[in-house]
Amino acid sequence: MPSLDDATRGRPVFGGDYNPEQWPEETWTEDFRLMREAGVNSVTVGVFSWAKIEPRPGARDFGWLDRLTDLAHGHGVGVVLATPTASPPPWMGARHPETLPRDENGQTVWWGSRQQFCASSPTYRRYAAAITEDLAARYAGHPALTMWHINNEYCTHCWCDETAAHFRRWLRARHGTVEALNEAWGTAFWSQRYDDWEEIIPPRRAQYRRNPAQELDFRRFTSDALMECYVAERDIVARHTPLVPVTTNFMPFWSGQDAWAWSAEEDVVSVDIYPDPKDPLGGQYNAMIGDMTRSQARGPWMLMEQAAGPVNWREVNHPKPRGLNRLLSLQSVARGADAVCYFQWRQSRQGAEKFHSGMLSHAGERGRTFQEVKRIGAELALLEDVVGTRATAGIAVLHDWNSWWAGQQDGRPSREVDYQRLVRAWHRALWESGLATDFAHPEHDLRGYRMVVVPHLYLLTDTAIDNLVSYARGGGTLVCGFFTGVADEHDRVREGGMDARLRALLGIGTVHEWWPLDPDESVSCDGFDATLWSEELSTDGGEVVAAYRGGELDGLAAVLRAGRAWYVSTLPSPPALRALLAGIAEEAGVRPVVEGLPEGVEAVRRGELLFVLNHGREPVTVTVPGTHHDLLTGAEVAGPMELERFGVAVLRETAAGRAVASGTAR
Ligand code: GAL
Ligand code: ZN
Repeated sequence: MPSLDDATRGRPVFGGDYNPEQWPEETWTEDFRLMREAGVNSVTVGVFSWAKIEPRPGARDFGWLDRLTDLAHGHGVGVVLATPTASPPPWMGARHPETLPRDENGQTVWWGSRQQFCASSPTYRRYAAAITEDLAARYAGHPALTMWHINNEYCTHCWCDETAAHFRRWLRARHGTVEALNEAWGTAFWSQRYDDWEEIIPPRRAQYRRNPAQELDFRRFTSDALMECYVAERDIVARHTPLVPVTTNFMPFWSGQDAWAWSAEEDVVSVDIYPDPKDPLGGQYNAMIGDMTRSQARGPWMLMEQAAGPVNWREVNHPKPRGLNRLLSLQSVARGADAVCYFQWRQSRQGAEKFHSGMLSHAGERGRTFQEVKRIGAELALLEDVVGTRATAGIAVLHDWNSWWAGQQDGRPSREVDYQRLVRAWHRALWESGLATDFAHPEHDLRGYRMVVVPHLYLLTDTAIDNLVSYARGGGTLVCGFFTGVADEHDRVREGGMDARLRALLGIGTVHEWWPLDPDESVSCDGFDATLWSEELSTDGGEVVAAYRGGELDGLAAVLRAGRAWYVSTLPSPPALRALLAGIAEEAGVRPVVEGLPEGVEAVRRGELLFVLNHGREPVTVTVPGTHHDLLTGAEVAGPMELERFGVAVLRETAAGRAVASGTAR
């Protein structure tokens, strides 16, 4: 099977989306001159080029793409060629309105933007397959082709009649009989019983709350329906070029796709990451998405898109301060990215993204953005040794889309509980403690980890529960956050407030009530403040590590443990969660990557290399034990080293340093 190695060919990939159809061809020549200057070795082309390639049904205009790919090859720039199927041309909607999505109110989603296609539409699929076939046939042997990029950020949802029929086929395969579906969805409540498959529709606009199990299955279906589109195109290009890797770019930590399932269908896992430059924890966000993507990839991954400067889709769009682009780019490399790319190469002058930055911004080649891009390109060229190497972690953070989907529905104890926010809070606590983390699915083999944390898995299948129990019984340290193991795979609540096997493991008797807290409310506990949530639970064998103090829950367990299994029935304030998890990690024998680093300085190990990153806006002095070479400056580092603001060092231990560390040099 092809992999990212086939595209990197031993050097980090650097480049970005290139939408040359916006420019006269003279500009292309200048583009490639500047790309060379910036060390760009890859462009992603064709992502939204459908109307240019197929101006009217069945027509083909590949001339411009021939010239472009040849030009790229002539300049030593590889091409990640995209199927243009994310944005059907206006003629498709006009001639085939059934290809346009309908929202849950039955309203048509029109052309005039992008991504207006219904994943269930046979007409859309037929046109998409035809253009993919012709594109693949034409460029299969092209020397510039390094990778296929299918569609773009698959994200459409549709509630139309074609989708309804498709949903029913999917449900039949999942549930077998209408009776089994009625059982799984709990349709006895509110007279929702279905007598025949044909009565079943997607969860459209309704009078009051819709059936949560139906909604959950619809989420699963939508992810699968989009994946069918991906797989169909992937299979076409793979037939033409079995040795060229295939990817589709994810939106980071996005609810619409079960990325565990999707990643298994990709040769290269790629993602688009846009931390808010104003967010003081933007570095943590970038780290979290990097950890997640690396875990999905089970090895090196591709940063398909980031912004060299501001985006244009937030309320207020902040530019990246000097040095931040470089810091975040190298942070992704540290966490396993072998490709650092952007949306987009040259900033647009027209269209909906004209105020979104590019590598070459409106300020041009003398602009600060481009100057920084050049520096990053030059430095990546020094990091060939990192390519293909692995980053490992002693801790796994468990995450599952099914649980996210089920747990975020209406009609639950508190709307304030936000899945992403909780995962982020737990990852942050570990990140700030300098502990390396992977992500894992609750049914994955966890035995390679000393510690596993479950920030918030409301839904757990029986298989997942047995997996967690056997992991902990086998000597692993397991830490579960509140409202975990409450529902089964059909979103049916388990008795006792939590699955009985988990309660036995965690030393919990009964969860009598959940006591969610108001946004501005906190409750004191031994040593910290509880926020967001609390629980009235009795223990059965568990040892109370911290209790609620005052209020209705006075004296009851907030944090409890039974041996190596821990339960945290609230969201402790950030410093408290950090101290708690750091303490548990220490007991489990998991050490920070480098001990004693100053606040805001991160160390990441990838293969033999140690990345040291300063997330602060001020220079800092850092001491890393041993003697190293900095691959970026060539300098030898022994003793304290200075890191500029947002500065990065990439260190390789010298032979002498290694000997000292292992105690053989005297
Ligand atoms: C991504 C998308 C790109 C561009 C970018 C802007 O979601 O794939 O085409 O729109 O956002 O940030
Ligand atoms: Zn549809």
